[in-house]
Amino acid sequence: MKIKNICCIGAGYVGGPTMAVIAQKNPEIKVTVVDINKERIAAWNDENVENIPIYEPGLSAVVAEARGRNLFFSTEVDKAIDEAEMIFISVNTPTKTYGIGKGMAADLKWIELCARQIARVAKEDKIIVEKSTLPVRTAEALKSILDNTGNGVNFQILSNPEFLAEGTAIDDLHNPDRILIGGDSSSKAGKIATQALVDVYASWVSEEKILTTNVWSSELSKLTANAFLAQRVSSINAMSELCEHTGADVNEISRAIGMDSRIGPKFLKASVGFGGSCFQKDILNLVYIAKSFGLNEVADYWEQVIIMNDHQKRRFAENIVKTLFNTVSGKKIALLGWAFKKDTNDTRESAAIYVADYLLNERAEIVVYDPKVKAEQIYADLDYLGSRNPEENRNLLKVVEKPYTACKDAHAIAVLTEWDEFKAYDWENIYNCMLKPAFLFDGRNILDRKKLANLGFATNSIGLPA
Ligand code: NAD
Ligand code: UGA
Repeated sequence: MKIKNICCIGAGYVGGPTMAVIAQKNPEIKVTVVDINKERIAAWNDENVENIPIYEPGLSAVVAEARGRNLFFSTEVDKAIDEAEMIFISVNTPTKTYGIGKGMAADLKWIELCARQIARVAKEDKIIVEKSTLPVRTAEALKSILDNTGNGVNFQILSNPEFLAEGTAIDDLHNPDRILIGGDSSSKAGKIATQALVDVYASWVSEEKILTTNVWSSELSKLTANAFLAQRVSSINAMSELCEHTGADVNEISRAIGMDSRIGPKFLKASVGFGGSCFQKDILNLVYIAKSFGLNEVADYWEQVIIMNDHQKRRFAENIVKTLFNTVSGKKIALLGWAFKKDTNDTRESAAIYVADYLLNERAEIVVYDPKVKAEQIYADLDYLGSRNPEENRNLLKVVEKPYTACKDAHAIAVLTEWDEFKAYDWENIYNCMLKPAFLFDGRNILDRKKLANLGFATNSIGLPA
């Protein structure tokens, strides 16, 4: 079966870049990305391709190549569903904030809404692809909704989790480690659907990298991959605290253990704590699923990854207060970076939010500079926590356009995102315009500590003795 029309519901960080690359590599397939968020779709359609709603290196070039040719962004969800033989669901699946499973389980409200909408609209057989990260066995619920509320057409459900990381999304999509497709191999229709999706990827991914499996293994592989990745960060962060007490250097430890081919060098960078929209939510979801089967030891094991991460964010902030003679009240502190990692404008669950909140509770005056995050996003992140009213947040925290403005007359600087440009700053100039002692807390270990110390900075890095 050759797919001619693809619809993707959800034009977010996954739906947008993923579909842009599928369209780029399959010029004969019409790909329509739909969303209920009108502003987001308008931004995807902005004449100036640099104004698309997601900052991701290389993305605007891919969009420029395919948009209007075979890549379309639209709010007409029903029309796109009707036209497509294959429908990707790439909507958000955040942690539930209410009811049963509050604070743990994934909120599947948007997934269910999509299923009901597809069932209502579909007049012909459709292949439904789970692109969102979902709890294991969600496909069963999807199938039940589709079959019970549909118009008698057949639906095949595939699981095709996305492994891209933000900041490197286009590279990850162009050269994936693997593509995972879960489908029903016991039926002919299931096999045809799986092959149809394999063919879409085979336009640019070699076949040995396209893994097919059953739906449940595919769904659970995604949660497992994120849990393992986050666990590595929490593991090295746990060691970073021990390093600070023993004179060992966490960077040296990463180097030493990373050369063991069984461990490998990636994902061993100690930090102020991992952020991003998925690690925490997916692990909480895994913990919830384990608990729901009564597997308390499994649940506790994975929950520790989150406990460690919360501890890392808190102790970074506590260390600032302690080092600044136990008070930051009324002191200007510059935060460099707000995004949860470099090369993205995404701030979801960024460690910066929690560090700022902690310092604001201590009545610090915060000034933030981030090369890609807009002021309104920073305030929205703080307001969402509900720690204080929006007016107070705006009075106590300022967002500036230039890093040097942020650092002028500051008591301390905290580097919270590993943006490359931070390394290239004129640190001597910055030192000269700060109050003394000039404290610098490097939450990403990206700056040359020796050089900064020679300039006069009192430096503090993760996993290195003070
Ligand atoms: P996002 O919030 O950026 O985008 C989701 C979009 O879906 C939003 O624009 C929203 O308006 C839209 N939407 C919600 N319900 C809709 C509906 N009924 N009809 C039409 N549009 C609807 O989320 P995201 O970061 O793209 O993540 C999507 C999924 O992919 C999540 O399950 C996430 O766990 C998973 N994932 C994310 C990443 C990542 O790097 N962000 C990577 C891999 C997997
Ligand atoms: C992560 C996974 O890497 C992707 O494979 C997955 O698809 C995605 O989650 C998802 O499901 O959403 P992402 O969150 O975009 O991708 O970015 P990562 O590079 O994984 O970084 C996550 C967080 O961990 C960032 O805050 C980063 O700074 C931090 N990190 C990462 C460290 O502190 N140290 C490291 O060594 C690596």
